[in-house]
Amino acid sequence: MTEKDKRGGFYLTTPIYYVNDVPHIGHAYTTIACDVLARWHRLAGDESRFLTGTDEHGQKIQQAAEKRGMTPIQLCDEVVVNFKKLWVKLGISNNDFIRTTEERHIKVAQYFFKTLLEKDDIYKGSYEGWYCVPCETYVPDAQIGDEKLCPDCRRPLTRMSEESYFFRLSKYEDKLIEYYEKHPDAIMPKARYNEVMSFIKSGLQDLSISRTTLKWGIPVPGDDKHVIYVWLDALINYISAVGYPTPGEMWEKHWPNVRHMVGKDIIRFHSVIWPAILLAMGLNPPVRVFAHGWWTVEGEKMSKSKGNVVDPFEMVDLYGTDAFRYFVLREVPFGNDGDFSELGMVQRINSDLANDLGNLLNRTLQMIEKYRDARLPEAGSLSRANDLDLGLKKTAHDVVSKMDAEIDDFALEAALKTLWSLISAGNKYIDETEPWRLGRKDPNDRLDVVLRTLWEVLRIASILVFPFIPETARHIWQQLGLKGDVDSARLPGWRWGDSDAVIDVKKGDVLFPRIDIAKWKEEKSARDATKLAALTGSDCSSDAPIEESSFDETEIDDFKKLEIRVALIEQVETVDKANKLYKLHIDIGREKRVIVSSIREFFKPEELVGKKILVLCNLKPAKFRGIESNGMLLAAEADDGGKEIISLATVDPDFPVGSLVH
Ligand code: MSP
Repeated sequence: MTEKDKRGGFYLTTPIYYVNDVPHIGHAYTTIACDVLARWHRLAGDESRFLTGTDEHGQKIQQAAEKRGMTPIQLCDEVVVNFKKLWVKLGISNNDFIRTTEERHIKVAQYFFKTLLEKDDIYKGSYEGWYCVPCETYVPDAQIGDEKLCPDCRRPLTRMSEESYFFRLSKYEDKLIEYYEKHPDAIMPKARYNEVMSFIKSGLQDLSISRTTLKWGIPVPGDDKHVIYVWLDALINYISAVGYPTPGEMWEKHWPNVRHMVGKDIIRFHSVIWPAILLAMGLNPPVRVFAHGWWTVEGEKMSKSKGNVVDPFEMVDLYGTDAFRYFVLREVPFGNDGDFSELGMVQRINSDLANDLGNLLNRTLQMIEKYRDARLPEAGSLSRANDLDLGLKKTAHDVVSKMDAEIDDFALEAALKTLWSLISAGNKYIDETEPWRLGRKDPNDRLDVVLRTLWEVLRIASILVFPFIPETARHIWQQLGLKGDVDSARLPGWRWGDSDAVIDVKKGDVLFPRIDIAKWKEEKSARDATKLAALTGSDCSSDAPIEESSFDETEIDDFKKLEIRVALIEQVETVDKANKLYKLHIDIGREKRVIVSSIREFFKPEELVGKKILVLCNLKPAKFRGIESNGMLLAAEADDGGKEIISLATVDPDFPVGSLVH
């Protein structure tokens, strides 16, 4: 029995996307995967509901809007259009699209807050900690090294202190463990389940869920100095979109079947914080949270400055919606990380789509046209099937149930492989039966059986492939001469050879024309050169190297905010019980200062005293082992055959102390 049979109903969500940037392959990937699952469940006869949307509050959006001289809502209104356009372009069949700035969401987020406050699961306190602005999250002290960098994005953390409301997350530690022990497939893949379980077991701390330092958010009901923490606000979208808490609304039917698809970076929000909040509200936690992997591009992290961000709009314009959908799902076992290569996509189009699928359709229809004047031999011919024909029929039936089970496990790449095993079996069957040798005389029993068998394979293949590549499935359906639309086909109603009507096939355009690799390479280099020129602002004939950086582009004004000066190290002290730290007494020209730095393992004190180094002087003070540090020295670090080495940024020995670095 599959998971679907046990539960009935299927409510699936994508993460809601931040609107501070244009959509890229990562966003497209999650949404395509969800679309396939939602379509499959419709096909299987389930009541399937599919939600996506945008996450529009928080510091990230506020800052992006400020940078562009807009109000946050103006930015949201502008960017949300790109997401909606992309979903149309990618053939996404979502039933709803929610924006967290909509009234229907805001009132539910406030209802959650108020209810939890009344239940004493939310209390007021004060919070001080290291905050990562890009990730919109406080980072626990245990995860912070001396450099004070975010463990996820490696960007500098900011020290923040504020009055805050807290959610009693710690109270739900045991309940979460109990839930996950009872429902081992509530977090998938298995490795993520194990990771989350050990995180919960290592102890949960209460969670700060309001901010006073930010305006762009949903006001805390009754205390509008605070806005609701953007992650809590965002998670609630999944239930506000189905009409919670109004009795009789969709949520009553759909919430017991809710499943979340997320990227691996946001699994904890979905499998620790969100289920705990739901338990506190007396609601069921998600039936499943599935974390997929991340895409790199040609072996490298995607980054705007490298110009390697894969633009799904461009990919669809170049290769078509279905080729892109097929490639991203087929290329990587779902749940693993993957590497995007355009050449890889072209090769897959040629082999799987043009060769395997396209040829099976083409060869079959060509023979029906040639030998039977395009009229399909009647289903009755199948009663004369021999073992070979029946073998193919059995393969088709096995493929249907195997794919159903794989899709219940969200194993999308595996399901595609399974489907392609049927397509290959069809092509092999043509080679084995050699219909062109069977004689063309009408009636010819054997030829009829073979042609009808092949047509049946294609009919079921068009139904099975529909959730993955819907446009192609429609073309196959039409070319097979079937009436109506493949959209309305349902797996439970499907029978091998069940149509008796007279059918005339209509061979049409080739599904996927083969791409000539040599020509493609030329065209790709021209495209790359144009992109490079746009990125460097130079003529493409220039061979100036492009700066490699894994960080997002920054503005010169951002750099100007940093006050970096030449400083003289006057004295070096060790720090008690901290074998990595030195307390450095430095002179920065206008004053003397103390900075604490984790360079003890690399230098002896005498190697440092008298050195002129570069120090970031306007960094917020921070305390290390009780010593206040007022600045940060700059150094380069590298890996020397497994050993970390560093080199301090210095200037000529007689350069004046206090000089500014531009
Ligand atoms: N707004 C939050 C989610 C809130 S859900 C209540 C968010 N948004 S996001 O726009 O930054 O990311 C959305 C999704 O895109 C995440 O699931 C993330 O994992 C995914 N991806 C972002 N970059 C990606 C790749 N390079 N590859 C695959 N997916 C990636 O997080």
